Amino acid sequence: MTKTILRALAGETLPTPPIWMMRQAGRYLPEYKATRAEAGDFLSLCYNPELAAEVTLQPIRRYGFDAAILFADILLLPQALGADLWFVTGEGPRLSTITTEEDFTKLKPVHAIDDTLSPVYETIRILRRELPPETTLIGFAGAPWTVATYMIAGQGTPDQGPAHALKTENRALFEQLLGKITEGTIDYLSRQIEAGAEVVKIFDSWAGSLKGDDFERYAKEPARIITQALKDRHPGIPVIAFPRQAGDNYIGFHAATGADCVAIDDSVSPEWAAEHVQTDGCVQGNLASSHMVTGGDALVSETKRVVEAFSNGPHIFNLGHGITPDADPENVQLMIDTIRGT
Ligand code: CP3
Repeated sequence: MTKTILRALAGETLPTPPIWMMRQAGRYLPEYKATRAEAGDFLSLCYNPELAAEVTLQPIRRYGFDAAILFADILLLPQALGADLWFVTGEGPRLSTITTEEDFTKLKPVHAIDDTLSPVYETIRILRRELPPETTLIGFAGAPWTVATYMIAGQGTPDQGPAHALKTENRALFEQLLGKITEGTIDYLSRQIEAGAEVVKIFDSWAGSLKGDDFERYAKEPARIITQALKDRHPGIPVIAFPRQAGDNYIGFHAATGADCVAIDDSVSPEWAAEHVQTDGCVQGNLASSHMVTGGDALVSETKRVVEAFSNGPHIFNLGHGITPDADPENVQLMIDTIRGT
């Protein structure tokens, strides 16, 4: 096994950590903006296999990252389940809402998702042909809780209030929705693996708003179910879980879910994560993405700090969250040079 990301995921401590970035194909890159303009809009780009593969490859060509992440979005699954989805420029996603049993029963059966999502599988097949042999291809989906927050509210919210409200007011419906998303996610990620994804990542961007038992039931348990089902169907497939802003709940997440790697956001220090989480297995993270905007000496010293803190165990270098559109592409190169010592 020669791909560095797969070696780290198998538990190997490498002299230099492999590197990729969340949202590495994105609006900070002029070539991304050009291809997105050619596609017309964001969703057309997601469903155009040639162009989606092109934007996935752009950061690999520019920087030589160790992994490429499929270009798509976590909200394509709700769309495939029958939700209306559109993006308002400068604001973000909008969806038809699910707040009643009637809304829920209008959703399509899980087996229908491939009718909508087959272009995504085609993007993966193109990428496996075109990626350099040393680059690992990562597929992904949203975690059920995070996807549900958007399906219930119909948009991003500062505190996931509408989803928490449905959980309190109609727990049976809330759990039915989570169950359906869980089932859809297993099928969606399975298809991605069959098409050529070598690793899958489950993004639980809003896991941090689940507390106590809710974290166990709605963050940990779905991650465990999805991970186990994928490993049953595709023995050996590595899984990265990202329960963002989990704080103390990062502790034990590997063991509780069976994930090979836990991705860490930058609200906890790398020293803390090395001591409390990396002892259980590979970790990914966790440089603050703001350094990609501000650069300079702080970028260099904080990059070295993250590398150093995680140097005694398996580690994949990444940001704590996605790179933002105002980032300077030269700062990304500075980060990579600092890690690789070139
Ligand atoms: O990381 C990558 O490069 C792979 C592609 C990817 C995108 N979204 C492309 C995208 C991935 C892995 C995602 C995940 C995603 N999408 C998450 C989980 C991770 C996270 O960021 O917390 C969430 C919550 C979404 C939903 C979503 N998609 C939102 C809230 C937004 C709007 C916010 C924004 O940044 O504009 C999107 C749009 C989106 N998804 C863009 C990209 C490149 C920007 C759209 C554009 O080009 O206009």
